[in-house]
Amino acid sequence: MSDTIYMAPLQGYTEYIYRRAYSHFFSGVDVAVSPFIPLAEGFIYSNKHLRDVLPERNRRMKVIPQALGNDPVKFIQLAKRLVEMGYAHMDWNLGCPKGTVTRKKRGSGLLPFPDRIRHILDKMMPGLPLKLSIKTRLGLNSPEEFGDLIEVFNDYPLQCLMIHPRIGSQMYEGDMFLDFLDPLICKIKHDIVFSGDIRDQESFNTLKARYPKVSGWMIGRGILVNPFLPQMLKDPAFEMKDWDTRTKLLHFHEELLCEIRYAYKHEHAVLNKMKDYWSYFARWFVDEGDIFNQLAHHNNLSDFIEDTKYYFEEQALAAFEGRLNRPVKVS
Ligand SMILES: Cc1cc2nc3c(=O)[nH]c(=O)nc-3n(C[C@H](O)[C@H](O)[C@H](O)COP(=O)(O)O)c2cc1C
Repeated sequence: MSDTIYMAPLQGYTEYIYRRAYSHFFSGVDVAVSPFIPLAEGFIYSNKHLRDVLPERNRRMKVIPQALGNDPVKFIQLAKRLVEMGYAHMDWNLGCPKGTVTRKKRGSGLLPFPDRIRHILDKMMPGLPLKLSIKTRLGLNSPEEFGDLIEVFNDYPLQCLMIHPRIGSQMYEGDMFLDFLDPLICKIKHDIVFSGDIRDQESFNTLKARYPKVSGWMIGRGILVNPFLPQMLKDPAFEMKDWDTRTKLLHFHEELLCEIRYAYKHEHAVLNKMKDYWSYFARWFVDEGDIFNQLAHHNNLSDFIEDTKYYFEEQALAAFEGRLNRPVKVS
């Protein structure tokens, strides 16, 4: 069976707006995990919190809604609502590294407390009307936390375990703790989805050879930088041709801009959102540094868009110099 390719949840990036525009032009992604729905606040039924996973916004790409929290009652309430919306699978975020989240023992802030995770699962699992997966890191402060966590995860019927092999205190940078994962991965009883630093065919092949047990591969920043990547991984014969590549990127960009304009309305909010995306999209072009600096200075959306049009018409694409393959950094 071929590997499943997941689009990673990237709060602020791989939301329905992006997923919808993406699915018009690119292939290879089998399923996306949504950026997390926070369960901290009271109104989990409001459309504001559920807007990213509303079925009418997700017709073109299969989605697994993800939730962030530590209250089993709220998880069950959300799960019931998701089932009404047609979902059969929900993911629990045990990886978010932000201080504001971890201090409240949510996301990776729960990882040093396996007994607490067990307690939450004991309360939550019997009432859940859908399948649960967990997206985790190896720990909050040390990858050594992972051994005890596996014992807890193994005791529950999870749909799969999604692993980003960093620890919370690293945020999204620095080496992944693959040496720690190596001896432990065979102890995991669940299907495994690997998430982290897949940015080209080579990094994918290296990870695949290292972890034959893994059946799903999740890509986040690698897709933002190279939206063709999932298709390239599935079809090694895939070739980028200058004109096709340029046209697809241009049309995708126009569609994304349309979606953002429709969703945000206020010009400044649209501009800021576009700037966020261009911290990754600038890498499509050879002169990425200059391009990003120039765009970052705009205070006016029309000027910003004029510049992006110019880049699509005039700038050399980085794809043909192997430059989409460099390590990706968080903006
Ligand atoms: C800006 C940003 C936002 C993220 N938001 C989420 C999130 O909402 N839920 C989650 O489980 N992981 C989140 N992640 C982690 C990614 O899903 C992924 O595990 C991580 O970026 C490593 O994969 P990559 O190297 O392919 O990007 C986020 C990462 C970044 C950089």
